[in-house]
Amino acid sequence: MYTEKVMDHFQHPRNVGEIENASGVGTVGNAKCGDIMRIYLDIDDNQVIRDVKFKTFGCGAAVATSSMATEMVKGKTVQEAMEVTNKAVMEALDGLPPVKVHCSLLAEEAIHAALWDYAEKHGIVIEGLDKPKSDISEHDEDEEY
Ligand code: FES
Repeated sequence: MYTEKVMDHFQHPRNVGEIENASGVGTVGNAKCGDIMRIYLDIDDNQVIRDVKFKTFGCGAAVATSSMATEMVKGKTVQEAMEVTNKAVMEALDGLPPVKVHCSLLAEEAIHAALWDYAEKHGIVIEGLDKPKSDISEHDEDEEY
């Protein structure tokens, strides 16, 4: 049911932990399943993501997608990080079972929430970034897969 890559990232998640004095922190949850994700970003003066960590109280698919998503945004600029969508993360994991697709949104939204926090603190605008919702289950109706 899960691809080898999903199993690998679930069993050996990358970038688990937290960053003290992070440049941006984002927390999102999904009220329907009760899962929560928090992402910490360390961003340098050139707006490059130097380090990223995540913590989750979530299902296996949420762990695997967060692990992959953090690997994908590391070393990117904040603008490039906007391209790390849940679709891109799922592709990198060779897919997720349809009932688990919503879990991948948790990682994308948590990254956006952390970027938003960073942008607000530094008075910058990240193109395409909207104010994140703290509960992504509100998105369910207009999700596109
Ligand atoms: Fe909630 Fe996967 S079941 S994030």
